[in-house]
Amino acid sequence: MTVSASARTKEPDMRVKVAGIEFCSPVIAASGTFGYGVEFEDIVSISRIGGFVTKGLSREPMAGNPAPRIIETAAGMMNAIGLQNMGVRAFIAEKLPKLRKIKGAVILANVFGFTIQDCLEVIKALNDAPDIAMYELNASCPNTSHGGMVFGTDPPQLWELVARCKAVARRPLMVKLSPNVTDIGLMARVAADGGADAVSLVNTFVSLAIDVETRRPRIGNITGGLSGPAIKPIAVRMVHEVSKNVTIPIVGMGGIVRPEDAVEFMMAGATAVQVGTASYADPRAVENIANGMKRWCIAHDVALVSSLTGSVLL
Ligand SMILES: Cc1cc2nc3c(=O)[nH]c(=O)nc-3n(C[C@H](O)[C@H](O)[C@H](O)COP(=O)(O)O)c2cc1C
Repeated sequence: MTVSASARTKEPDMRVKVAGIEFCSPVIAASGTFGYGVEFEDIVSISRIGGFVTKGLSREPMAGNPAPRIIETAAGMMNAIGLQNMGVRAFIAEKLPKLRKIKGAVILANVFGFTIQDCLEVIKALNDAPDIAMYELNASCPNTSHGGMVFGTDPPQLWELVARCKAVARRPLMVKLSPNVTDIGLMARVAADGGADAVSLVNTFVSLAIDVETRRPRIGNITGGLSGPAIKPIAVRMVHEVSKNVTIPIVGMGGIVRPEDAVEFMMAGATAVQVGTASYADPRAVENIANGMKRWCIAHDVALVSSLTGSVLL
């Protein structure tokens, strides 16, 4: 049976490929906002969304920062969770076996460390674990061997981190860039030169909120990371700038709450997108945005969602 062009348009092809990995939808749940995936199993059809990124995994378990860790802001939220997690070995032993039972779930493991050696050890542990599609290396951590300077804001440190992680990674390596820099295009080029197979952006923006009655910071850690709709136009601008600087795929995020937001990131140059803060307001947000994007494609006669990438008219 032949399929006519109009029939094809009615059922758009929502598949995208990032660094050789195929996703059934371009909409992926962002790290730190989707737990270890298993917590959402009864709420979201994990195999129907593009995939999800685990909480940041470190070499050893981490307790995180003092409370309060999350506050709401106008059009967004601030968090300073402090990368609390169970540690990579417990993730592999306790969570991964349950995740592997969810057919079709694309799992991306988010990796971080306070030294390059920490990151290498996390990646090596994950290398031997089954069914992980890709690593997302969070380059927004302070490098404790270099006096706390953040890897992702210093080009030589970022290059070294990426090159050494790439040398041991047996899966595609996506590098998550810090937006707290002047020239995001330069940082993306450095990551690509170091061997990154893809880049993701943005992580949260460093921010401060003060309770004027107590004169104290509203977050226990003093500063926190701003996310949600408030950051979206900056994130879209950064994705576009990165698209002019590298040829590797870009996964865009920052304030996506509606299907149109995801489309906007793709038009700016993203191959896929991630959704974070929106899951706090609606645990089904990732799936709803993925479904809505499909409807958007149908309404706009877009047969291939991948054709949206970089399609902004300037
Ligand atoms: C509560 C919370 C925890 C987060 N934890 C992580 C993390 O562990 N690793 C990471 O790379 N990004 C983490 N992020 C950043 C998000 O993955 C995402 O980059 C950012 O929030 C911007 O997207 P959004 O506006 O859709 O939330 C966290 C964000 C939030 C709100």
